[in-house]
Amino acid sequence: KHYVAEPYKIKVIEPISVTTKAERERFIAEAGYNTFLLRSNQCMIDLLTDSGTTAMSDNQWAGMMLGDEAYAGSRNFLHLQEVVREYYGFRHIVPTHQGRGAENLLSMIMIKPGDCVPGNMYFTTTRAHQERNGATFVDIIVDEAHDSQLDLPFKGNVDLSKLERLIAEVGAERIPYLCLAVTVNLAGGQPVSMANMRAVHKLCAAHGIKVMYDATRCIENAYFIKTREEGYADVTIAAILKEMMSYADGCTMSGKKDCLVNIGGFLCMNDEELYQKASELVVLFEGMPSYGGMAGRDMEAMARGIVESVDYNYIHHRVAQCRYLADKLDEAGIPVVKPTGGHAVFIDARAFLPHVAQDRFPAQTLAAELYVESGVRAMERGIVSAGRNRETGDHHRPKLELVRLTLPRRVYTYAHLDTVAEACIAVYKRRGRIAGLEMIHEPKVLRFFTARFQPL
Ligand code: F0G
Repeated sequence: KHYVAEPYKIKVIEPISVTTKAERERFIAEAGYNTFLLRSNQCMIDLLTDSGTTAMSDNQWAGMMLGDEAYAGSRNFLHLQEVVREYYGFRHIVPTHQGRGAENLLSMIMIKPGDCVPGNMYFTTTRAHQERNGATFVDIIVDEAHDSQLDLPFKGNVDLSKLERLIAEVGAERIPYLCLAVTVNLAGGQPVSMANMRAVHKLCAAHGIKVMYDATRCIENAYFIKTREEGYADVTIAAILKEMMSYADGCTMSGKKDCLVNIGGFLCMNDEELYQKASELVVLFEGMPSYGGMAGRDMEAMARGIVESVDYNYIHHRVAQCRYLADKLDEAGIPVVKPTGGHAVFIDARAFLPHVAQDRFPAQTLAAELYVESGVRAMERGIVSAGRNRETGDHHRPKLELVRLTLPRRVYTYAHLDTVAEACIAVYKRRGRIAGLEMIHEPKVLRFFTARFQPL
C-alpha cells in the first residue's frame, strides 16, 4: 500500500489542545453528548466536518489582501465569475454566503407546493429547503448505496428505473428539477459515474426536467472518475470537471469544501430567466448579485482556491489520507463504509454497536465515546441527522447509521490519523460496555445541530 506524502509544507501552525479523559467526560456531559455542542478548544483532532475547515494556501492568503470591498461591481467578483465560467462552464454565477444560501434561492425559484424533487440520497439542508418550499424529496439512488459493505465504484449513481417510475407516477410537470449530488455525502462520499450523469441528463432532457447538481464535492467525484471509470485515466481533473458540469443545467455549491475556502458558496445556471429570478432574490436574502454574502477578499480566495482544487497532486493526496485511515480501521476489524470516499471515513455504528437499538442512537453514542476516549471529534450521520417524517411525526430511520470522521483539507498529517485510528480501536475493544443514549431536547428543524442527550 502506498500513501503519497503531503504535496505542501507547513508555513503557519495552530496549536491544538491536549485534554485529560476526566476533563473530556465533563465537557461531553455539558455538551449534552452532542459533538456539535463541544467547543473546538475542547477537541484535540477535529474531524467534525470538512466544511470551512480548509487550510488556505499562501497564494490564497495573498489574495485576501487584494479584496475589493466595493458594494457593487467588486473586481474580485469579476475574477470569481471568470474562474467559475472557465472551470465549471456555467454562464451565470450568483454568489451566496455558503451552500445552503444557494439551496434556498434555488428551492424558492423552482419549487411550487406539491412538487417532487428526486435526488441521489438526501442532504440535511438541501432537503430542508426543498420541503420548506412545499416539495417532497424522493430518493432515487441505486439500492447498493444503502449497503455499507458493498465495494462498488459508483454507489452514488441514480437508479434510472426509479427515476422513470417517478416520472410516470407523478408526471414531469410536478418535477421542477432533479438534484444530483456529486459526491453523495451521506452515502459515505460515494461518487457518480460520468456515464450515469450523461444518462440522467438525457432522460431528464427528454421530459423537460432540469438537472441541478449539488457540486459541493465535485473535485473528489472527478478524481474517482479518473481513477475508476474506463477512458478517463489520462484526462485531467479540470477536463473531467468540465465534462461533468456539461450534463447539468446549473448547480449549487458549498465553497467551504471543494473550493478550498472557509466561507462562501454560489448558485450557477445557464438559463437567463432563472438567473433573473435568482438575482432578484439574492438581493433580499444574501446581498448584491456581485457579492451575495461574501466579502471581496473571500471571493478572491475562492477564485484562487478553485484553480488549486483541480491540481491532481492535491486531490490525489486528499483521497490517500482517507484511504490511510480507513485501511487502519479495517485492519483492526472496525466496520467502515466501503469503498472509502474522498472526504471522510464512515464507521458503521450499527455493526460497531449491534446491541444498541437505532432508537438509542448508536452513531450519536459512538461519536460521544470516541471524543471521551481521545479528544477526537466526529459527527453523527444516522437517525438523529435524518430527522422526522413531516406527515407521521416518527423518526426517519435511515439504513445507514454512521459516524463520520471527516478530514479537513490540507490540515492534518498521517501522524494525526494514527492517533485517530488508535482511539477508534480502543473504543472498539470496550464496545460491549456501551449502552446508548436518550434524547432529552429535540429542536424542530435540523435537530442534530442542537439536540441534547443523556446516557442510558
Ligand atoms: N450539500 C452537501 C452535500 C453538503 O455536504 C453540505 C454541507 C451542503 C450542501 C450545505 O453547504 O454548509 O455551505 O451551507 N455539509 C457540511 C458537512 C455542513 O459537514 O457535511 P453549506
